[in-house]
Amino acid sequence: MESDAIENVKDKIDEILLMSTNSEDVFHSINTLEWLLKLDPEADTALRIAALGHDIERGLEDRMIQSGTFETYDEFKQAHALNCAEILVEIMEDFGVEQSLIDDVAHLVAHHESGGNEREELLKDADTLSFFHVCIPLYYDRKGPEMTKKRCVWGFKKLSDNLKKDVLEIEFPDPELKQLVIDSIVSDND
Ligand SMILES: [Fe+2]
Repeated sequence: MESDAIENVKDKIDEILLMSTNSEDVFHSINTLEWLLKLDPEADTALRIAALGHDIERGLEDRMIQSGTFETYDEFKQAHALNCAEILVEIMEDFGVEQSLIDDVAHLVAHHESGGNEREELLKDADTLSFFHVCIPLYYDRKGPEMTKKRCVWGFKKLSDNLKKDVLEIEFPDPELKQLVIDSIVSDND
């Protein structure tokens, strides 16, 4: 049954992301789905799978795209998106998911960093809001203030204008982080 195949895909995504060395990845997957449903409670199955699995490569160290091999951060993110789409296609094929759904999820995930049409924008915004919501503290611990600020500026720029206020409403446990996020927003408006 198609619904069993979808449940199997969701479980597999969870299993893979639990192997990520970055412990926020599994929370980020679930939280991106939560943001997606907040932005569109009627979001379809393809969008829901795409939200859960858009960063799937992070649990597969040997298949993960490395940022150092790209000239720009955008090029790296584009390669990351395509790689995650490819991995998800393999998983969905293994579980016998219907081809039209596989194509839909792959297309959404391939565009999750850049956005595009209405559904791709929705996924991009859910991912971006979730980065601010659950990823920043651990990202900050790993990368330090400079990189985190750059990442926030990049994330804030790609967020749809009508959602930028939502970032300001997110509670940050650390006042330093809160300030860093505000500084990023200010530099975006320069
Ligand atoms: Fe993400």
